[in-house]
Formats: sequence, structure tokens, C-alpha cells
Amino acid sequence: MATNRTFTMIKPDAVRNGHLGAILAQINAAGFRIVALKYTQLSTDKAGEFYAVHQGRPFYDELVQFMSSGPIVAAILEKEDAVADFRKLIGATNPAEAEEGTIRAKYASSIGENAVHGSDSDENAAMEGQFHFAGTEVFA
Ligand code: CMP
Repeated sequence: MATNRTFTMIKPDAVRNGHLGAILAQINAAGFRIVALKYTQLSTDKAGEFYAVHQGRPFYDELVQFMSSGPIVAAILEKEDAVADFRKLIGATNPAEAEEGTIRAKYASSIGENAVHGSDSDENAAMEGQFHFAGTEVFA
């Protein structure tokens, strides 16, 4: 059964390039409700831990450096079929393959610096949300 929550990070490139407000507005306009929100910067250790599943891949070190290179916004979002619908909203991992109008097509510059993260399963959405937020920081 699809849960109604997903987890996202608006990545350092999007924040640096001034797209934070536009991306949050597009997320809201698509019907997602923000139930947790944090403006923060990951340490290299925390970024490495978050992306531990990719450890050993050729892009892992670059990913960890990039994700800790500046502030991000982390959020838990609520909507029916949140995981699948959010992945549609952000588009393919590689912005060159992302559908027109998607967040990555509009704001991402490369597969590494791709503006936004979206959980790929209900299980990961729950784990990733808990990684960033204490229970007292989530407002149902
Ligand atoms: P994200 O959805 O946050 O999940 C894993 C991230 O790894 C992905 O977005 C990309 O930013 C990054 N990534 C995946 N494949 C590559 C690649 N081939 N080269 C560089 N970064 C990648």
C-alpha cells in the first residue's frame, strides 16, 4: 500500500543558484503539504552516511563532497502516493533525460548536481525522514 509521505532535499546547487523559493512553490502547487522542514548543512560524515548505499560507486566521493558543499533544505512531504508522484514531479536523475517542466529539467545542471533528491520507496522515505528529523520536528 502506498504511504502518503516522501522525503526530499533541495540540494546545494539549487540553493546556491537561488532556486529554493521556486522549487518549494512548485512542490506546494503540485499538492504536497510540508510536514517537516529544515535549512541546514550536512557534514561530509553525515552526507556519507545518508548516501551509504552508494558507497563504492565511482561517483560516491563526488556526491558526498557536493552534498556537504553548502546549505540544503530537507523536508518531509505529505500527499496521496507521495513517493511516486514526487518522483514524477522532479523528473529523471539525469536532467538531460528529465521531462519538460519537471524540477530537474528546469533547475538541474548535471546528474551529479541535480537540484533535488526524492526518496525511491516508502521504506526509504521513512528512513530518510528519520535521519533528518526528530519526532518533535514533524507536524502531522
Ligand atoms: P539522488 O536522487 O539524490 O540519489 C543519489 C544521487 O547520486 C543522485 O541523486 C545523483 O545526484 C547522484 N548520482 C547518481 N548517478 C550518478 C552519476 N553517474 N554520477 C554522479 N552522480 C550520480
